[in-house]
Amino acid sequence: MVEKIKEEIEKLKEEGIELLKSKNLDKETLKSLRIKYLGRKGVLNSFLKRLSSLSPEEKREIGKVVNQTKVLFTALIEDKEREIEKIEAQKRLEEEKIDVTIPGRISRVGYKHPLNVIMEEIKDFFFGMNFSLAEGPEIEDDYHNFEALNIPKDHPARDMHDTLFVSDNVLLRTHTSPVQIRTMLAQKPPVRIITMGRCYRRDAVDSTHSPMFHQVEGLLVDKNVSMGDLKGILTAFVKRIFGEDRKVRFRPSFFPFTEPSAEVDVSCGICKGKGCKACGYTGWLEIMGAGMVDPEVFKAVGYDPSEYTGFAFGMGIERIAMLKYNIDDIRLFYENDLRFLSQF
Ligand code: DAH
Repeated sequence: MVEKIKEEIEKLKEEGIELLKSKNLDKETLKSLRIKYLGRKGVLNSFLKRLSSLSPEEKREIGKVVNQTKVLFTALIEDKEREIEKIEAQKRLEEEKIDVTIPGRISRVGYKHPLNVIMEEIKDFFFGMNFSLAEGPEIEDDYHNFEALNIPKDHPARDMHDTLFVSDNVLLRTHTSPVQIRTMLAQKPPVRIITMGRCYRRDAVDSTHSPMFHQVEGLLVDKNVSMGDLKGILTAFVKRIFGEDRKVRFRPSFFPFTEPSAEVDVSCGICKGKGCKACGYTGWLEIMGAGMVDPEVFKAVGYDPSEYTGFAFGMGIERIAMLKYNIDDIRLFYENDLRFLSQF
């Protein structure tokens, strides 16, 4: 009896070794073999159930052989598992092979907004002329936006600024000129600043109007500043932005905060000054307001007009960008359409 069982186990062992060492075992088959041989109800355990009629020594003997076989099978199965794992890893590696000849994906680069391009050019020029950057709030009060700039409440110039009011006294600044006032109230002369930023007016939107737009403002105050200084710096500035071949013209004008005042024109780049539709057949394009700081403004900020003179200027950045790049609709600046932005 014992010998017969031992023989059967031996046969099973040989069969098992062959199966567990065979080449093309996959994970699933290996799992079912493990259950078949080593499972609680597996073949090896089934031998132990047949031992009831045997003596204790015989039981021990068979038990030993069964256990040795279990240990052997377990080892073989574990070996096989590692082998399969290795093969699968190798396969994964091969599938993941990187083809270095595939062309790369082109990532899209960002673009500078044209208004930023212009603002940087403007800063560049004026920093080179030893101006520094000043800042002021977009929410202003009546005093800085109008009163101190010599624009009294009943002054007709207020019609030029269709103002967005927050309350009776508080408003969205209609120009960057209040930064002149804030700067002069905060420091003693000499002053050499530019400022740039958003301005607001109660305009209906069309191709040349937007209720929010940008301005650059400049202010220079010192002893013996003359209209000649203003003309010199602004002529150099216009040529830097638009090109050396462009002509610059100063036309008498009026602003409450400057006296005398001028409107600055650049010769039309499309017709070279001959006159065309773009310049209204005048050969000139208006680009900014400027003038000598009005003594009334100096008085408002506590500067002595008999000791100091100065000039100021202000311009719309959208307008400069539109003229420079031949953009015919101001709304394009705010839509952020990449087809537009990618051109600058
Ligand atoms: N603040 C004026 C405007 O918004 C522009 C301007 C004109 C500013 C003349 C100045 C200046 O500093 O001197 O229309």
